[in-house]
Amino acid sequence: MMHVSESPSSRRVDAPSKVVGGALYTADHKIDGVTYAVLVCSPIAHGRITSIDVEGALRMPGILGVVSHLNAAELRGLPAPAWPTKPEELIRRPDHGASLTFADAVIRYAGQAVAAVVADSLQDATAAAQALTVTYDADAPIVGLSEHEAEATDPQTGEIPGGEPATSSRGDAEGALSEAPIRVVATYKSPAAHHNPIEAPATIAQWSDGTLVVYDSNQGPHIIAAALASAFGLEKKSVRVISEFVGGAFGCKLQLWPHGYVAALAARLVKRPVKLVLTRPQMFTSVGHRPDLMQHVTLGADQHGNLLAIRHEAIVQTGLVDEYVEGCVGRTRTRYACPNVSVVTRLEHLSLPAGTSMRAPGKSTGSFALESAMDELAAALHMDPIELRLRNFASSDPDSGKPWSTSALKECYEVGAARFGWRSGGARRGGSEGRLLIGHGMASGSYPRYASRATASVVVFASGRATISTGVAEIGTGNTTVMPCIAAEALGLPADAVELRFGDTELPFAPQAGGSRIVASVGHAVLRACEDLKKKLAGEGLFGPEKSCVEILRELEIDSAEGYGAWEPDGPLPVSVESNAAHFCEVAVDPIYETIRVRRFVSAVDIGRVLSPVTARSQVLGAITMGLGQALCEETLVDPRFGRYLNIDLGEYLVPVSADVPKIDVSFVGEPDPQSGVLGAKSAGEIGIVGAAAAVANAVYDATGLRPRTLPIRYDTLA
Ligand code: MOS
Repeated sequence: MMHVSESPSSRRVDAPSKVVGGALYTADHKIDGVTYAVLVCSPIAHGRITSIDVEGALRMPGILGVVSHLNAAELRGLPAPAWPTKPEELIRRPDHGASLTFADAVIRYAGQAVAAVVADSLQDATAAAQALTVTYDADAPIVGLSEHEAEATDPQTGEIPGGEPATSSRGDAEGALSEAPIRVVATYKSPAAHHNPIEAPATIAQWSDGTLVVYDSNQGPHIIAAALASAFGLEKKSVRVISEFVGGAFGCKLQLWPHGYVAALAARLVKRPVKLVLTRPQMFTSVGHRPDLMQHVTLGADQHGNLLAIRHEAIVQTGLVDEYVEGCVGRTRTRYACPNVSVVTRLEHLSLPAGTSMRAPGKSTGSFALESAMDELAAALHMDPIELRLRNFASSDPDSGKPWSTSALKECYEVGAARFGWRSGGARRGGSEGRLLIGHGMASGSYPRYASRATASVVVFASGRATISTGVAEIGTGNTTVMPCIAAEALGLPADAVELRFGDTELPFAPQAGGSRIVASVGHAVLRACEDLKKKLAGEGLFGPEKSCVEILRELEIDSAEGYGAWEPDGPLPVSVESNAAHFCEVAVDPIYETIRVRRFVSAVDIGRVLSPVTARSQVLGAITMGLGQALCEETLVDPRFGRYLNIDLGEYLVPVSADVPKIDVSFVGEPDPQSGVLGAKSAGEIGIVGAAAAVANAVYDATGLRPRTLPIRYDTLA
């Protein structure tokens, strides 16, 4: 079953320093003369600031200054930015609208930063921030997805992260649906959800001679530096961003957010370094979220289960500051061999914070709808859900017509079903144990390949060690483990002889650790750097397959040699690349206590070659765990009267704890993919969540006969 060759390294490089407290996170950095900024956030969702009692705050102990719309333009040193009027102006901003913070007195969502108070101590800054009097003229907020008419995103401008157009179709879905003998028509709802990394988003900003140096918790120091440079009208080289270790991100640290910009403004005001750490409640309105959305899915099929048409329409919340679009319909075009497919994304601009990417953005939400609908179709046909999927198996990419680079989706089904002990057939699979209702469900998911320009350098020392340098972030995904594996294989060194220097814009450019792209992007650059180094040594006439780089260095009696690699995608690949997963879930539903427990979860995953078994497995386990949270726990509620998020702490925003997560059985299947990327690897970071919530929902249906169409699934709200 397992054809994938594995690298020998079984260690996780960053683990010891994290366990013993040696890893430095942003707020851990000790900076001489540091001051503390605390945000003041708007309690109203829509309206205007009428006054801020800055004088009152300045009379409080230890207060050094207050930043707000009253002085931001002056501190920024640029004219106040014009407020964008068209959606494409919102989405195309390099700083995602961060520099619109304090640009005017208008309130566009509850939790919007209205001021930052700076003091010598965190305690004084917090006290003054809490005491700061801000008065508002409040209007009624626009909240609730159903409250007003949705507008389709203009397909010309509505570019969804990952490059999906908002509207697309092939064939004639409407015509085929009207003639289909079997139809499934269903609406699926999923709530706003928040990433909640353990490490709160944080920034320490410091100016010296017009240069901005920033410690910041993010997924890509170079991306944040470019955004800060744009916000302050600086050259990118005038901004240095350092992100040594990052305590979780999941998409909420991909872009510059208001707090990073505000820390830099505040540092200009007080002419000292400023540390700004978001509180957990502030995090809920300051760094994005997975937007709430509604998805209408219609499947048309013949009596044998052949899909004739799919229509998938999403209505997605977005904000008034940054127009993030949750692209949840895109995978529907490639998932099944169906001739007629129509997908559309519609946006509603509400008085809520901007959304953003959250672990497999769009794919996690979209797969919940599509894979639930497939289960509904299987139930309508009394057909085994795997058989239905195999009947509609796409042997090439049905959207582009390109062949798959590799696809082990069928093996995912086979291996997952075998390990789970799947009872095939169209009948109910579960049963009961005492009063518990047991259900079995399955679903599958796919994740595409994203790759971007990246650079890296490598130095090999005669001592036998090597160092790779690239400005990538380590968000816990394992770059410090995997990049050395890649270089070690290229250089013929043991993996533990290679070290990664990362997390600093002084190091070569790397893209953000998002979209599962780092191996395909930075991994390529690392390989090129190693090739460059080997070429240089070959130029000395000594290189050969029988000699290692280190032996050559010793023969040449030089201490070290260096190589540099730059890589960027050169146009679309001739193949379509997808990682795949099949998930199998057993739930136990207690109709007396109204609880739903996941008892077993089995996944078979095709990510091509597994470069680092420990970190790849952790990625998949973590993503599945987030899928269990999406299915059963996570939901950020809005008070419709005030447009405020209600459950903004970890006491009331539920995430799965250890007792909620059974042993998750993960198998890697498939084979190295020669075309997708580096050493045969495909995207690994996010595939685990795709389809996971649908597998739970389908198991709940099997247990109860009630179809969950709203996340998170609660027994008492099952139809
Ligand atoms: Mo991920 S949501 O691409 O950080």
